[in-house]
Amino acid sequence: MNLTLKIWRQKDSKAKGQMVEYKVTDISEHMSFLEMMDVLNEGLVAKGEEPVAFDHDCREGICGMCSLQINGEAHGPDRGITTCQLHMRMFNDGDTIVIEPWRAAAFPVIKDLIVDRTAFERIQQAGGYISINTSGNTQDANAIPISKEAADKAMDAATCIGCGACVAACKNASAMLFTSAKVSQFALLPQGRVEATERVMNMVKQMDLEGFGNCTNTGACEIECPKGISLENIARMNREYLAASLAKS
Ligand code: FES
Repeated sequence: MNLTLKIWRQKDSKAKGQMVEYKVTDISEHMSFLEMMDVLNEGLVAKGEEPVAFDHDCREGICGMCSLQINGEAHGPDRGITTCQLHMRMFNDGDTIVIEPWRAAAFPVIKDLIVDRTAFERIQQAGGYISINTSGNTQDANAIPISKEAADKAMDAATCIGCGACVAACKNASAMLFTSAKVSQFALLPQGRVEATERVMNMVKQMDLEGFGNCTNTGACEIECPKGISLENIARMNREYLAASLAKS
């Protein structure tokens, strides 16, 4: 298929960006979206032009590096996938595709389609460590009984790959789905209860410091999340935060 691409180009974090139009031809419907971008870049390099900078690593939906706003949707038109898992069969011959970086003040553009997502790392770091006794023999895996429901919910929360699609999809650029997933994956397990009060207070504080907006329950984050992280986690984080605030006062 032949496509027109309108891509955000920005030399560096200080430069003023703009949309630039490109044509790509003979794109197979079996290609991934990032492979299509590779074809574009090979053509640009062959012409002596600067290739389009975009983030990627695993290309398997695991690492959370790929981060493109495609036709106004985080990770494009498909559901439950990252940009690297998006295939060109989701588009039609002759389509115009608009490709932008995540748009959020807390995710400043570094170059073209790459944004700085270290704010997420600082939120995670604010959560701190889990205190467990690692001296002596290895603890029996079943020493602390955990209900299947709690284990499943903790594992579901832990599937968040921190790609930032939740922030990009939210009209408030809220990071509450991400932060609540990271809070929940520990809060649901007995091992994570030891520092639960400090953890939720510190992570929410850092989230606010980074300049992310608040949740107004529109649910766009849950829809665009490639891992299907549930809004239920935000409700849990709010309960954890309230309980922690009362415990502190
Ligand atoms: S490149 Fe790793 S999730 Fe897309």
